[in-house]
Amino acid sequence: MQLIEGYTQLIEKAIAKQQFQGQPRNLYEPISYILSLGGKRLRPALTLAACELYGSKATEALDAALAIEIFHNFSLVHDDIMDKADLRRGQATVHKKWNQDIAILSGDAMLVKAYQYLAKVDTQVLPAVLEVFSQTAIEVCEGQQLDVNFETQDQVLEADYIEMIRLKTSVLLGCALKIGALVAGASSVEAENLYHFGEKIGIAFQIQDDILDAFGEPEKFGKTPGGDILNNKKTIMMIHALNHANDDQQLHLLASNIQAAEKIKTVQELFVSLGSKAHAMRVMDRFYQEALVHLEKSNGKDALKKELATFAEWLIKRDL
Ligand code: IPE
Ligand code: IPE
Ligand code: MG
Ligand code: MG
Ligand code: MG
Repeated sequence: MQLIEGYTQLIEKAIAKQQFQGQPRNLYEPISYILSLGGKRLRPALTLAACELYGSKATEALDAALAIEIFHNFSLVHDDIMDKADLRRGQATVHKKWNQDIAILSGDAMLVKAYQYLAKVDTQVLPAVLEVFSQTAIEVCEGQQLDVNFETQDQVLEADYIEMIRLKTSVLLGCALKIGALVAGASSVEAENLYHFGEKIGIAFQIQDDILDAFGEPEKFGKTPGGDILNNKKTIMMIHALNHANDDQQLHLLASNIQAAEKIKTVQELFVSLGSKAHAMRVMDRFYQEALVHLEKSNGKDALKKELATFAEWLIKRDL
């Protein structure tokens, strides 16, 4: 994954150079803070890779890539409030380090900043870029609202879960790729096909995130383990487990009157014994395979197609 690593470094350097200065300081400091905590930078790397896939230099798409990473970080700052999460990338979340009002407003400012970076793309492609970005941003909100709604809903269909993660997570991967392709001047058919590659791999990526939330190593994953279980998130594993549990096990899955650590342990065991974890991995693999079909159809450079295929495989096997 040498090319992707190169893109990630490019993003890292570009982010380090950005100044988020202004007054009051407690509005801007969280922006620098969250962006400095690293993360995988996978979405902007996809933008740069897509740009090179269609024959332009990665640096041509740098502003658009930064816009996408800033938007992603904005969504995390607000997501951590909604998910009552204390830890992000191994450090305190913005609403914990400062407070909730600051996290809301810094997040709002980041969303606007994202548009300011996006507006720097070439005027020829700007309308198409703005259209996919805005459509994606609104879909992320829709997905996040569904995710929250499902917390208090005992019956959620697996198809509804897939649609919810398509909206909250995968459309942004599709958008990142599509914008890279558009900046490189790819046809709308090529750009759209690449979007679908991102959409499918994004669904697989979120399933892996849900698996890691329940089973990952906190030191690597950087988030508090079991958060989804404690929030009654209807992940694919929880939905499968609820559908296969007996009455007693059902009570354990949804229990709110036991200690956090005990609840997490019980649910983890049920996810394994009921075959819910194995089911999640099978569905993840199915979306990964579907993603590859779209990538194969791309008429972009072979070296980049190979690189994207390797990256996609890493995204579903990662432990961070
Ligand atoms: C976290 O995304 C939010 C999800 C959609 C699962 P990442 O796992 O890409 O987070 P960072 O940017 O690498 O920290
Ligand atoms: C978040 O999904 C997706 C967005 C931020 C839009 P999660 O809530 O699963 O993300 P993490 O696990 O907190 O990173
Ligand atoms: Mg969430
Ligand atoms: Mg979350
Ligand atoms: Mg998660």
